[in-house]
Amino acid sequence: MGELRVHSALVTGANRGIGLGLVQHLLALPNPPEWVFAGCRDPKGQRAQELQKLASKHPNLVIVPLEVTDPASIKAAAASVGERLKGSGLNLLINNAGIAKTNSLDTETLDNMSQLFTTNTIAPLLLGQAFLPLLKKAAQGSPGSGMSCSKAAIVNMSSIGGSIKEMYLWEAAHCVAYRCSKAALNMLTRCQSMGYREHGILCVALHPGWVQTDMGNAAGYTELQKLASKHPNLVIVPLEVTDPTSIRAAAASVGERLKGSGLNLLINNAGIARANTIDNETLKDMSEVYTTNTIAPLLLGQAFLPLLKKAAQENPGSGLSCSKAAIINISSTAGSIQDLYLWQYGQALSYRCSKAALNMLTRCQSMGYREHGIFCVALHPGWVKTDMGGTLEDKSRVTVDESVGGMLKVLSNLSEKDSGAFLNWEGKVMAW
Ligand SMILES: NC(=O)c1ccc[n+]([C@@H]2O[C@H](COP(=O)([O-])OP(=O)(O)OC[C@H]3O[C@@H](n4cnc5c(N)ncnc54)[C@H](OP(=O)(O)O)[C@@H]3O)[C@@H](O)[C@H]2O)c1
Repeated sequence: MGELRVHSALVTGANRGIGLGLVQHLLALPNPPEWVFAGCRDPKGQRAQELQKLASKHPNLVIVPLEVTDPASIKAAAASVGERLKGSGLNLLINNAGIAKTNSLDTETLDNMSQLFTTNTIAPLLLGQAFLPLLKKAAQGSPGSGMSCSKAAIVNMSSIGGSIKEMYLWEAAHCVAYRCSKAALNMLTRCQSMGYREHGILCVALHPGWVQTDMGNAAGYTELQKLASKHPNLVIVPLEVTDPTSIRAAAASVGERLKGSGLNLLINNAGIARANTIDNETLKDMSEVYTTNTIAPLLLGQAFLPLLKKAAQENPGSGLSCSKAAIINISSTAGSIQDLYLWQYGQALSYRCSKAALNMLTRCQSMGYREHGIFCVALHPGWVKTDMGGTLEDKSRVTVDESVGGMLKVLSNLSEKDSGAFLNWEGKVMAW
């Protein structure tokens, strides 16, 4: 694999998120660029502080005022970069600045569509035009045939959200303006690649993954918020399950909302997985996965016990059930010591051990909480098509709807004799 070796690079929207990450990584290259230009629309603002700090340590980092929706600002940026480069060209233009809104097909507006199209699609076109002379110069100044990012390139930060074929996560969020702007950006990238090929400029659209930035986090949260806005009986509870203080605060706020009545069902669903093998498993990963998948369900059981007990007392009649008071631990067949399910597909050591331990915890909870009238069960949801479930196509895989529908049906049919069991989403008893 060749190493990225550029004399100069410009990143737009470089003060936070992926843009800031790109700047940091460019500066940390074994052979860092002589010039990294960080485009930022408000260099003196609060959100540029991290970038300013970085610039004070790296004399080769230059912050360039750049509002990508303003042609005058783009022209001024191209002029100031040109001046700084003193006759040499710009190797890499990364059109990273972008915005997203979560409007649905019904709520999308002219204003929103125009704003996103201007920032995400028109700006990369204008930036390509304005920096073309410098990119051409870089291509001419770099010897050797062929095109590359080290020579002269435009990289447009696109998104899988713009894939017309995938219609990625449509059910979770329509984001019509964002999807259309990125599909259009993909087309622009093809146009640029056709038009600028003769100048030796490589053009590519890049999907960065679903990244934990302001934009990426907002996209992950809004579907739940949208649901809450439609259902007054849905309450979003801030809860970091590995933080005992957060667990206590969540129990207090749920208790307050319930105004003296109990909580019937605690579903410990939050979980993480690492794809580590027996050779590269680490103390850190083992601890993190165990904390989230095993210790958190224990602490949540403890913190919510008073509310679960209250629910059990409020429901007269003998026997335990999920309609009365129950803890449901979402486990996995990967934690079955007997089955060692799909070992060939992935060893996932920390995950397997954490879920085997969660099964034991479920048995312990069922023993300890039986006297309080609380039912406890470990459920394997199936191999479900989620981020954790991965992308492998297999006929045994189920959708979230199938899995959840099945589990709720199973829960409704369980009775006292099932407390402490390990079952799957279809009600089948799983091997320990
Ligand atoms: N995060 C993800 O999961 C994800 C997934 C797929 C694609 N992407 C793409 O990756 C790129 C970066 O995303 P991100 O997650 O890092 O987003 P982010 O955290 O929201 O950061 C966006 C950056 O763009 C800048 N920006 C927005 N409008 C601008 C304008 N008119 N002029 C100049 N700068 C402007 C912002 O500057 P201010 O601070 O001044 O607002 C900020 O620096 C975007 O093109 C996005 O569509 C992200």
